[in-house]
Amino acid sequence: MQSINVKLQDRSYTIQIQNDLRLRLHEILGSKNSGQQWIIFSQKPIFKIYGEAIESMLREHNFEVKHILLENSENAKSLSSMEAIYSQLIDFSCDRSSIFLALGGGVVGDATGFAAATFMRGVDYYQIPTTLLAMVDSSIGGKTGVNLDSGKNLVGAIWQPKAVLIDSNFLASLPKREVVSALGEVIKYGAILDEDFFNFVSDNVENLIGMGNSQLLQDVIGKCVALKAKIVEQDECEGDLRRILNFGHTVGHALEKYFGFDILRHGEAVLYGMLVAGKLSVKFGGLSSQDYELLSLSILRLPLPSLPKFDVDEIIEIMSTDKKVKDGKINFILLSKIGETVIVDDIDDRMLLQSLKLIQ
Ligand code: GLY
Repeated sequence: MQSINVKLQDRSYTIQIQNDLRLRLHEILGSKNSGQQWIIFSQKPIFKIYGEAIESMLREHNFEVKHILLENSENAKSLSSMEAIYSQLIDFSCDRSSIFLALGGGVVGDATGFAAATFMRGVDYYQIPTTLLAMVDSSIGGKTGVNLDSGKNLVGAIWQPKAVLIDSNFLASLPKREVVSALGEVIKYGAILDEDFFNFVSDNVENLIGMGNSQLLQDVIGKCVALKAKIVEQDECEGDLRRILNFGHTVGHALEKYFGFDILRHGEAVLYGMLVAGKLSVKFGGLSSQDYELLSLSILRLPLPSLPKFDVDEIIEIMSTDKKVKDGKINFILLSKIGETVIVDDIDDRMLLQSLKLIQ
């Protein structure tokens, strides 16, 4: 078992990674159980595969457990679904001592975290991520949120979980496309923070996609988690440092919004975004052409869906309404080398247009 601490004074917590950890949840959570309500938040497909068994096992060990199934899409992260959740929690007689368990991917984690941050002014919750993307990224850091019509995650709170409990065996049921998408974030961690890790991931891309080597997977999850934990410890509330985690996301989010989830998954959009940000890094960040070559080679080794035709001006327009715009300027996280970042905010639309044409 790997155990990584996120040190945030009284909000500190542990991230545990282990095969079959779900079978020990009653032991891990046992010391917190004092007869209060435990609510599993999940979505139907994952609840059927894992949640029902977890709920029964916890009941057998004297936990008072109920579940709430969220919509099986990004719609779960809306204020109207939050309202329905609060009503359900009241119907379940939940109070401030209730504890929530987020069993699922990023949508479940974000929605559960937001419900935990706001219900009765805040209750405890645990992240139990079931997708690789949630394991390496969204379950850690405490940013929770819901979407508005005008954009994703525009309403939210920083509310740290009590622990992140990662069972790498959940990945057995994960479609290959979701694995590739998560590798976008994995490559990102290496590119922005750790050259050796970047090289290691690049050398093992095929093995990682194949998912046959569970030790390799656990090592990669552990490394990403440790890298993210270090950043969150230094910048819990997203000042400057934490923004480096957005490498590839400025263009990525715009592509995601433009194309929608069916055409482009989050990680796939980030991978395309990193290609563009990499090119801009050569012009504005001091990245060498050799390093850019290495970055683009590892990205293009992944089976990415090809992008349908898109309107570059519209992508730029979407980017300029994003949260990452500060004082009217689009902020770009760029690389000065593999493993190091710089923030640049004076890239003009002409340069942006040229770099976007690279993926058009
Ligand atoms: N929940 C994701 C983050 O805090 O970065």
